[in-house]
Amino acid sequence: MTTAPAQTEEATRGAFSSRKVFIFAAIGSAVGLGNIWRFPYVAYENGGGAFILPYLIALLTAGIPFLFLDYALGHRNRGSAPLSFARLRRGTEFVGWWQVGICAIIAIYYAAIIGWSVRYMFFSVDKAWGDDPEKFFGGEFLRAADPSAGVTLDFVPGILVPVVVVWVVVIGIMALGVQKGVGATSVIFIPVLLLAFAALVVQALLLPGAIDGLNALFTPNWAALQDTGVWAAAFGQIFFSLSIGFGIMITYSSYVGRKTDMTGSGLVVGFANSGFELLCGIGVFSALGFMAQASGTQVSEVASGGIGLAFIAFPAIISEAPAGSIIGVLFFASLIIAGVTSLVSILEVVISAVRDKFEMTRIGATMVVSLPIAVVSVLLFSTTSTLTVLDIMDNFINKFGILLVAVVSMLVVAWLLRALPRLARHLNRYGSIPVKGWWIALMSVVTPAVLTFILVKEFRDAAATTYGGYPEWMVTVFGWGVALAVIVVGVLVARVKWRPGTPLTVPQDDDPTTMEVTR
Ligand code: ALA
Repeated sequence: MTTAPAQTEEATRGAFSSRKVFIFAAIGSAVGLGNIWRFPYVAYENGGGAFILPYLIALLTAGIPFLFLDYALGHRNRGSAPLSFARLRRGTEFVGWWQVGICAIIAIYYAAIIGWSVRYMFFSVDKAWGDDPEKFFGGEFLRAADPSAGVTLDFVPGILVPVVVVWVVVIGIMALGVQKGVGATSVIFIPVLLLAFAALVVQALLLPGAIDGLNALFTPNWAALQDTGVWAAAFGQIFFSLSIGFGIMITYSSYVGRKTDMTGSGLVVGFANSGFELLCGIGVFSALGFMAQASGTQVSEVASGGIGLAFIAFPAIISEAPAGSIIGVLFFASLIIAGVTSLVSILEVVISAVRDKFEMTRIGATMVVSLPIAVVSVLLFSTTSTLTVLDIMDNFINKFGILLVAVVSMLVVAWLLRALPRLARHLNRYGSIPVKGWWIALMSVVTPAVLTFILVKEFRDAAATTYGGYPEWMVTVFGWGVALAVIVVGVLVARVKWRPGTPLTVPQDDDPTTMEVTR
């Protein structure tokens, strides 16, 4: 029989001081660039109105139920993603490392976008983008090279410096630890973010033409429901935005007191995140409506879309709004806050996994993990090829990283380990939302089947064409290569032995079989 490791382990791993701090941290993680930067452009590229229905269906059938699954895994097994899987069965640990790899990749480009926001906060003061924010973004600001130029080593100081600053701040927060760093940052900044953002959206709604933008966002397009690409985008967005499927919520829930209502907390987090996301959509589409009216075109044609949309649409609002500079500073500060509270959660997945597996102090693990990621991030995302590499990585790591690992983890937990009933019992012990057969059916059959169907179709399409018309070698390296590398690295790291003294089981009062050591 193992001795109860909980007390000492929690003391060394770190923990949130209360449920409130956990909820703030989880909202801080969920609400991020995914909401403000990614959602509007993904919705825009997928036909606006066509997107909302699949998005809501994905939220209810996959998002919230998967959030519960992540919570159950981390909260019951009290470990980082790899440790939580290892505690289910040692052979499934690679799934956790795969998720860790995905986080490392996302962190690389995520910091770059926060860096852009830092610059734009300063640009807001004198509206440096002038009359044409779209031209300014790709031109003067990013100095984006033609994709055919490949990866350039042509650094753009205006992006390099803020990306370095972002990394310095984030590494500082990580070094402070779970409660004082990650938790405290969210408790302070999330309310600020909500207030600032609400003010901005009200302003956007007052713009002439805003209603046309809202019509474009909220008018359903039934025909588009037959397009699996729209569904893939909706599911991908939900997973990215809710921070599910790639280890974050497993890690955060392992830092929460055992007697916590995880399902009630999950609903708060899930709806807060999607509420905020819709608010962002409303803001951006109001701006698009305004831009369309000003230029006498359709909302669907007004901007080139793509990953720069937020950096084009919001400056357009800021330029028009009374006291625009103040609103601009508020907006980009919000983007920075939202981004930082999410980036810390992404890095925490890697740091906590490394700490669980190897004998390392908090500061040691923070440095070992963050410095290499920061160096790659700065090298790759401060040059004139940033936009191309970022677009490819974000697309592939979402579909063939997050969505794929989500399917694999559901299949492993549901069918290989047959652990769903156990996990449901765990959630129900202190949870306020009863998790029953509906959840088991969704997580074992419905959601994996839908996602597999979408992924097979997406895989075929992606194999048949070169994503975005970019050079083929770039798609191979930064798209397929990266998605494959995180799997290979996951399998290899999972073979490494755990540091001595890590129990691979946690005693569970509802399940006597967990008292055996399975290492
Ligand atoms: N959930 C985080 C975001 O939306 C990663 O940006």
